[in-house]
Amino acid sequence: MGSNLLFVGFLLVMGFGPITARSQLSYDYYSKSCPNVLNVVRSQVLNAIKTETRMAASLLRLHFHDCFVNGCDGSILLDGSDGEKFAFPNLNSARGFEVVDSIKTAVESACNGTVSCADILAIAAKYAVVFSGGPSWRVLLGRRDGLVANQSGANSGLPGPFDSIESIISKFDAVGLNTTDVVALSGGHTIGRARCTLFSSRLSNFSDTSSVDPTLDASMAADLQSLCSSGDGNTTTALDRNSTDVFDNHYFQNLLNQKGLLSSDQGLYSSDEGIASTKSLVETYSNSSERFLCDFVNSMVKMGNISPLTGSQGEVRQNCRVAN
Ligand code: HEM
Ligand SMILES: *[C@@H]1O[C@H](CO)[C@@H](O)[C@H](O)[C@H]1NC(C)=O
Ligand SMILES: *[C@@H]1O[C@H](CO)[C@@H](O)[C@H](O)[C@H]1NC(C)=O
Ligand SMILES: *[C@@H]1O[C@H](CO)[C@@H](O)[C@H](O)[C@H]1NC(C)=O
Ligand SMILES: *[C@@H]1O[C@H](CO)[C@@H](O)[C@H](O)[C@H]1NC(C)=O
Ligand SMILES: *[C@@H]1O[C@H](CO)[C@@H](O)[C@H](O)[C@H]1NC(C)=O
Ligand SMILES: *[C@@H]1O[C@H](CO)[C@@H](O)[C@H](O)[C@H]1NC(C)=O
Ligand SMILES: *[C@@H]1O[C@H](CO)[C@@H](O)[C@H](O)[C@H]1NC(C)=O
Repeated sequence: MGSNLLFVGFLLVMGFGPITARSQLSYDYYSKSCPNVLNVVRSQVLNAIKTETRMAASLLRLHFHDCFVNGCDGSILLDGSDGEKFAFPNLNSARGFEVVDSIKTAVESACNGTVSCADILAIAAKYAVVFSGGPSWRVLLGRRDGLVANQSGANSGLPGPFDSIESIISKFDAVGLNTTDVVALSGGHTIGRARCTLFSSRLSNFSDTSSVDPTLDASMAADLQSLCSSGDGNTTTALDRNSTDVFDNHYFQNLLNQKGLLSSDQGLYSSDEGIASTKSLVETYSNSSERFLCDFVNSMVKMGNISPLTGSQGEVRQNCRVAN
């Protein structure tokens, strides 16, 4: 009896238990077949961010939107009218596809036919965070590329800015991520931009009792009203107006000051449902940059492990936009 329990414990530690997905990827997957892959991706990401600072945010988000739909399999990169690019959360929103093409071209000339597009997204996301002043981590590798996109999966599986916190938590739960992951990864909104159309409902005619969302700081609301009043809903503004392009914990400090941009941001601190499960984490991260950065890295690794294709599953795409 005792030794059976020990044996089960041994199997879990060795990765034969419920956490097998993690053990299928490895740090040294390309150490022989493409030893320079990290440097190649790194310099392409650096170039792209030098050209446009926002690209760091866009690349980070691509990895997230890839992993939540059919796992981290590069499916978001596939072109075609039935692709994920045309799903609501991505249409006129997901960006950086040309940069991924450039990275792929550079990687192919270093090691033709070897590195998957899914791994390129994972590596690019890490350097995007690093070059924004955020933490670094070792990226697990060995994901293979999926053969199909899943537009309906993107529509149903990706969280939206109007979702309740409860719904966001359950969408994360569906891919094996918990409430700590929800709050830590929402900290990705410390960089990047969002369009007026995704938060303007908070600015006027909000409810029967309040024209402006009462959980939005009044001076920030006034500022956003003037920003969004002209033009179509495509005008953008920073998700973190305190330190727009810097990867830090100001996103969480903003939430304490009712300066979250999206309803789904502020709700982590202010919504009734958010209070029990997410509010105390927001407070912790607002007070401790270390705790945020450490939990963010852990959650990024977890997210990068969502249902990877490995071994002979899938393929290594030659062109990230089309299956071979
Ligand atoms: C928790 C649920 C989440 C919701 C509801 C959400 C929603 C959104 C929305 C609505 C935008 C603006 C899109 C646009 O203007 O077209 C956005 C941008 C962004 N999101 Fe999220 N997001 C969530 C989680 C995450 C996670 C987990 C990450 C990464 C770790 C992330 C990273 C980003 C980044 C970096 C941007 C800016 C992209 C850019 O400027 O190109 N988000 N998000
Ligand atoms: C890579 O290999 C494919 C065939 O597998 C070939 O069509 C392509 O031209 C090669 N590209 C480079 C850059 O060598
Ligand atoms: C698309 O995603 C949904 C939701 O995760 C899943 O049930 C379905 O099997 C996926 N379809 C394909 C073709 O992968
Ligand atoms: C979420 O999972 C991590 C391990 O991946 C764990 O350390 C953390 O305590 C969990 N959080 C919650 C709220 O269950
Ligand atoms: C405000 O909302 C109400 C109902 O939700 C609607 O009848 C009214 O037309 C809206 N007003 C404006 C100015 O959009
Ligand atoms: C935003 O830009 C897209 C693409 O250019 C366009 O199709 C759309 O009508 C614009 N307006 C809104 C509100 O999305
Ligand atoms: C950002 O927040 C810090 C600390 O809360 C504050 O000292 C600083 O003035 C803020 N900067 C901007 C640009 O809002
Ligand atoms: C931040 O930490 C300080 C000192 O430990 C504490 O007094 C304060 O209540 C904390 N604030 C939040 C929002 O947790």
